[in-house]
Amino acid sequence: PAASLQDIVGHAKEYGFVFPSSEIYDGLQAVYDYGQNGVELKNNLKAAWWKAMTQLHDNIVGIDAAIFMHPLTWKASGHVDGFNDPMIDNKDSKKRYRADQLLEGKAEQYEAEGQPEKAQALLAEMGRLLSAEDLNGVRELIIAENIKCPVSGTTNWTEVRQFNLMFSTQVGSVAEESNLIYLRPETAQGIFVNFLNVQKSGRMKVPFGIAQIGKAFRNEIVARQFTFRMREFEQMEMQFFIRPGTEMEWYEKWKEARMKFHKAIGLPAEKLKFHDHEKLAHYANAAVDIEFQFPFGFREMEGIHSRTDFDLRNHQELSKKKQQYFDSDLDENGKPYGNYIPYVLETSVGADRLFLAAFCNAYTVETVGEGEAQKERTYLKLHPALAPFKAAVLPLVKKDGLAEKAEGIANALKSSFRTVYDDGAAIGKRYTRQDLIGTPFCIAVDYQTMEDDTVTIRHRDSMEQERVAISELKEKIGYQVAI
Ligand code: GAP
Repeated sequence: PAASLQDIVGHAKEYGFVFPSSEIYDGLQAVYDYGQNGVELKNNLKAAWWKAMTQLHDNIVGIDAAIFMHPLTWKASGHVDGFNDPMIDNKDSKKRYRADQLLEGKAEQYEAEGQPEKAQALLAEMGRLLSAEDLNGVRELIIAENIKCPVSGTTNWTEVRQFNLMFSTQVGSVAEESNLIYLRPETAQGIFVNFLNVQKSGRMKVPFGIAQIGKAFRNEIVARQFTFRMREFEQMEMQFFIRPGTEMEWYEKWKEARMKFHKAIGLPAEKLKFHDHEKLAHYANAAVDIEFQFPFGFREMEGIHSRTDFDLRNHQELSKKKQQYFDSDLDENGKPYGNYIPYVLETSVGADRLFLAAFCNAYTVETVGEGEAQKERTYLKLHPALAPFKAAVLPLVKKDGLAEKAEGIANALKSSFRTVYDDGAAIGKRYTRQDLIGTPFCIAVDYQTMEDDTVTIRHRDSMEQERVAISELKEKIGYQVAI
């Protein structure tokens, strides 16, 4: 049977991947900490993304912008006026819900009952009402569909109100309106406001991209499903600056490139799909999600958006600084394309969602052995490049110089990839420990090692063992732990 989210949350905590934030105080909703193994897995994912962007593309460079930005940034980006969720309260339970999610739940129910046309019609009507900002209409739709509060079971709903998702705080000592600043709700704006800095200092030519990994913050009201929807999370975004009119070509290219990335880090094709947006975000003229099949269904993991010149044009207007690029390439008439505000193709993936996808996909429970010896085996089938440790070196016993020999091997491997030495228990138990955190290779040092300088490599997924020379270890494992 497929693992439940609960099993996965339990495993993540027990083996040092993810802990609830400030747990000793009973936690903080929708905020999580990564533990000693989680931080390694997450760093490996971020490194794979960074490499895919900045190392494998000559025309993509990275930046690291601040979380705090001038407040006008969020006016220009549309987040002050448009970054809202429509909320509705149930008067009996006093519980607050996202109105669109209530309606989506109803559509899912129609779908499950074999009425896909009804589901489609409902989603279309919802999209129409939300685009027209007809909040009263949204409420009437919820009532007409007889949607009940999951807690009280009643249909006693308040009006629908828009709720801004940005966190704000004050800079300086005086709590005046003018000191109000926001915690960035997306990393993208740090890239937009630096577009010309990077273009000029790096002598970049369109098309080129700027990549960034960093924290973002959203006051998510309905925070659920572990690290899927957090209030503090990390984004990996890349803005690709292009000539206007070429956006659909780049949209297709990046769709394909990003799907390829997810497969390369080990996510299986059958758990990935594209999902076109029914309702476009305020900045996009074409948008698609890459969805992953989480234990709670197919959900958005990455967004690919054609943002046109929406952001740069608004920044130009509010900052009164030209956000133009001079394109000296020649058009079909032999004239330079000249000055324009570039269009932008964006790829945006949540590091925490990618982490959750990789973790859920890796979590494996299998029955092994026959008859009396049959037992359950749990392990993390992570791509070797993502595993917190690539190798564990385990002496069969501690005596007769085996421990020292094994420690020497571990130390020699450490500079090439993350390796752990463990002599703590029976060897079978130590294999299990490594399985549970996803270590792909266990190197056992036995008496034969002392004679001929060979060891066994035990492979995590197949549990098969092979005998290899110590001198071959670095290369043999090294080439398998890269993407
Ligand atoms: N710059 C575009 C942008 O921010 P988005 O679709 O709102 O677009 C992009 O977010 C990605 O960020 C999502 O696909 C998701 O992976 C991640 N993300 C967004 N909100 C999140 C949250 N509350 N918790 C975790 N990840 C989130």
